[in-house]
Amino acid sequence: MKNLVVFASGSGSNFQAIIDSVNRGDIQAKIVGLITNNPKAGSIERAKKHGIPTTIISADNHEVFTQKIEDQLAAWQPDLIILAGFLRKIPDSIIQRFPDKIINIHPSLLPKYGGKGFYGLRVHRSVLDAHEQETGCTVHFVNKEYDKGAIIDQIKIPVLSDDTPESLAKRVLTEEHKLLPSVIAKLINS
Ligand code: GRF
Repeated sequence: MKNLVVFASGSGSNFQAIIDSVNRGDIQAKIVGLITNNPKAGSIERAKKHGIPTTIISADNHEVFTQKIEDQLAAWQPDLIILAGFLRKIPDSIIQRFPDKIINIHPSLLPKYGGKGFYGLRVHRSVLDAHEQETGCTVHFVNKEYDKGAIIDQIKIPVLSDDTPESLAKRVLTEEHKLLPSVIAKLINS
């Protein structure tokens, strides 16, 4: 059985989509742990409900933050690490230690609207400001540069004339919940 570790700072709806997919047997792996930097993350409650061990790593100090993540990953031995709305940069040493084993979900059609500062509603506001006809979500491998690693898969949706950043966020999120588990299944089950 392969081991998955999920990093999530927010509500954790993508984390939930992964849990559901594992429980259905679509992803043949075990979620061995959740790492969050936010003690108030909704993902913590979701982990508790499903008996998934959680580690909160909120250290401000970069060395301490890095060491704690390294220690936890050494204990959990992940085959795949999934960033599902993790709002801190993954330390370079960890990226080096897990080449092509860390993936991230981003709510735009990368390379557009990615990089530092592009998160949450800012992404969708920028899409609307640029009068894009379509948007979507992307799963990509994580390298040292924000949102720049190799793209694995995307789902596109049209931008509607009456879309707001909020409505767009909601519709893209629905697609994220399909894309992320399907990419994990492809990577893990092969
Ligand atoms: C998602 O939009 C994801 O693309 C981005 O952060 C958000 C996390 O949402 N990286 P949730 O916590 O999974 O609901």
